[in-house]
Amino acid sequence: MEGVTSTWVEPSSTATALLLLGRGAEESTERGVECPGELPPPSDPNLVARATAAKAKLGQRVFVLGHHYQRDEVIQFADVTGDSFKLAREAAARPDAEYIIFCGVHFMAESADILTTDAQRVVLPDLAAGCSMADMAALPQVETAWETLEELGVAGSTVPVTYMNSSADIKGFVGRNGGVVCTSSNAERALSWAFERGQRVLFLPDQHLGRNTAVLELGLDADDCVLYDPHKPGGGLTAQQLREAKMILWRGHCSVHGRFTLSSVNEVRMRVPGVNVLVHPECRYDVVTAADYVGSTEYIISTIAAAPAGSAWAVGTELNLVRRLANAHPDKQIVFLDRAVCYCSTMNRIDLPHLVWALEELAAGRVVNQITVDPGTAHHARVALDQMLALP
Ligand code: 13P
Ligand code: SF4
Repeated sequence: MEGVTSTWVEPSSTATALLLLGRGAEESTERGVECPGELPPPSDPNLVARATAAKAKLGQRVFVLGHHYQRDEVIQFADVTGDSFKLAREAAARPDAEYIIFCGVHFMAESADILTTDAQRVVLPDLAAGCSMADMAALPQVETAWETLEELGVAGSTVPVTYMNSSADIKGFVGRNGGVVCTSSNAERALSWAFERGQRVLFLPDQHLGRNTAVLELGLDADDCVLYDPHKPGGGLTAQQLREAKMILWRGHCSVHGRFTLSSVNEVRMRVPGVNVLVHPECRYDVVTAADYVGSTEYIISTIAAAPAGSAWAVGTELNLVRRLANAHPDKQIVFLDRAVCYCSTMNRIDLPHLVWALEELAAGRVVNQITVDPGTAHHARVALDQMLALP
């Protein structure tokens, strides 16, 4: 639209924004571990020069992967940016890089370790970069759920499918039990694959991605889905409900995307005439059904890139990405779906001081914050990840 220069308005601050600086440990996150070593202060004016120098010194020995939710200050040093699926493929496709620095969260770095060779080292610049959704499914809870299905005689006809956003333990469980990993860009194909092999799916840990995909893409009824609460005996479900369900959805969600509501959508339609609402499938079912477009971060980026100048977009996903899109497309009106800030606090743990520290330590021959998955778990998790990479 002619005359549109920058329409971006920063949303107002919320409690989630308080963790922006990425220092300290947060007990409730996936790992919640403070980093060892001396981090450069965020005020150091030489951070960019230091990162550039350390990366140049490492040369081809290091490959930096950056998820789309990372801060700009970090993304500028990524050799490749992508959604979870693209980054998993990129990690597997770099056997020559001695070090993979994963600018993302813990479960992504674990998957990279599983998909790379034994000689390669995967580094997560801040070990506290976990994922609250991944935390919502612990292996003993999932094993208890599976035992319940075994007792009911339905485990053999149930295929476990886990979202990438889960720990390596959970991926290992899924691999051991004939299932598959999926991401937001291939969930429909993964579920179709699973339904060719079983009568029902146990979907971990994101109830929203599971429900949205099953109902909106596979055409299942909302009543075909039941919600399994790991904090209740039998998941809070009757034997009949578990037997009859086609989708057993684990009661997990993303704390970032869970903040968007139907009123966010209604409000933005009033506020921005003609707006297109584009959301991530981790959003709630009522938000996704009220939106115009839904897809992974990579889909969100390509949809906005292909949109005509002058079009208006309200984007329901993490704020670093939405702000970057707004800056990259000043000819389009891009607003955040909610009026309040919606960062992923754990993605934001990876800041420039942590990246500089990791790069400089590697350049000095010291491997820090290495992410390793034990060989037994890695073997089974790899089966489920390879199955995802081989989906038609
Ligand atoms: P994708 O980038 O695969 O869409 O995943 C979004 C997300 O929440 C990652 O944590
Ligand atoms: Fe986890 Fe949500 Fe953050 Fe992704 S955006 S890392 S799912 S909390």
